[in-house]
Amino acid sequence: MPCGPGPARPREPTFRALFTAPRPEPSGFAHPGPCVYTVAVEASSTQPPEPKPASHGTDERLTDREARTILVTGAAEFIGSHVSEALVARGDTVIGLDNFDPYYDPAIKRRNLSDLSADDRFSLLEGDIRDPAAVEEAFTAARPVTGVIHLAARAGVRPSIERPLDYATTNVDGTVNLLEAARRHEVARFIFGSSSSVYGAANTVPFSEDQRIDRPISPYAATKVAGEALCYTWHHLHALPMVLLRFFTVYGPRQRPDLAISKFAHLLEAGEPIPQFGDGSSSRDYTYVADIARGVLAALDSNLDFEIINLGSSSPIRLDEMIEAVGQAVGVEPVVNVLDNQPGDVPRTYADVGRAKRLLGWEPRWTLAEGLREFVAWRRRMSAEA
Ligand SMILES: NC(=O)c1ccc[n+]([C@@H]2O[C@H](COP(=O)([O-])OP(=O)(O)OC[C@H]3O[C@@H](n4cnc5c(N)ncnc54)[C@H](O)[C@@H]3O)[C@@H](O)[C@H]2O)c1
Repeated sequence: MPCGPGPARPREPTFRALFTAPRPEPSGFAHPGPCVYTVAVEASSTQPPEPKPASHGTDERLTDREARTILVTGAAEFIGSHVSEALVARGDTVIGLDNFDPYYDPAIKRRNLSDLSADDRFSLLEGDIRDPAAVEEAFTAARPVTGVIHLAARAGVRPSIERPLDYATTNVDGTVNLLEAARRHEVARFIFGSSSSVYGAANTVPFSEDQRIDRPISPYAATKVAGEALCYTWHHLHALPMVLLRFFTVYGPRQRPDLAISKFAHLLEAGEPIPQFGDGSSSRDYTYVADIARGVLAALDSNLDFEIINLGSSSPIRLDEMIEAVGQAVGVEPVVNVLDNQPGDVPRTYADVGRAKRLLGWEPRWTLAEGLREFVAWRRRMSAEA
């Protein structure tokens, strides 16, 4: 469905839009409501601009479309492929860096990239962020990199308990490699994909960015806390402009097959029972991937110097409600098999998105029912093509 301009959304008076024309969501993500893909805001003259260090790129490098080349790590998979599509759709050049981590079938990842690969503004380097030479090549192989969106990671809470070292080397060492290269190459902005898991189990909801994050309850969460700390250090030492985005349970087309919504849809279609960990009262702030991609672009386009920002739907759904909703989207009544709670799983996530609204002009647009409809439609297209 084509997205129209819709009614103007209220915008903070201290911000002005860089790109005001309505932009389409990438294919497959037309939202039924108003849709301006690129929020892209910049502080107006009512606030004195932060002084920019001479050693770094300026915002002009990011606002000059012709010169803009964005390095997206983890581009082959779920969030990274959507972000890359959104960048290319609006005219940016994208260099993807991904090692096709065998966490799940790399053939699925290559299929994720089939549309993007046909676009000459997208190129993919197969390389490992743990390898400084591969990272350096990504910065130098094609054009000078003006911005970095660092999404490559070992993701997933439960496997991190089994393989903590893999998580530490990729999410910590790999992040240091990216930060060092970004510093050397004087990129104009560095975006880090962090996670709601940094809030751990003890914080009160909704989670706001100022809450303590020193009690992560899984190795994955601990590596994201470490990644955030490293980003701050590189910002502090080298004045590298940064936005750290904490994503809340992202779902949608191309999501990893091991994530709950994917697994449940698969089991429902196969007529099998759904394993429900706990009594169903745990809750998650399920956030549609197109909303996340729009927030990432808004952060890239901002002139923020250093910020940590939640991106979540701010509308938590209980696990038993989510199972029902997936059942409705698939068209099958779920049969639930209740199991024990899983270690490492937090009881709830719920984003305070006030800062995202204030600094990025970003708000979630997709409801769970809308997003699940797109997700199930995508699954059906994929199985029809297979
Ligand atoms: N999906 C979510 O719900 C969610 C929530 C919070 C945060 N995040 C974060 O967002 C980012 C993207 O998540 P996702 O769900 O798309 O994960 P994903 O696993 O689908 O994508 C990660 C990508 O990184 C690549 N990768 C892994 N190790 C690598 C390495 N050593 N070198 C190069 N590439 C490597 C993988 O091949 C994959 O393409 C991650 O940093 C993740 O921690 C995701």
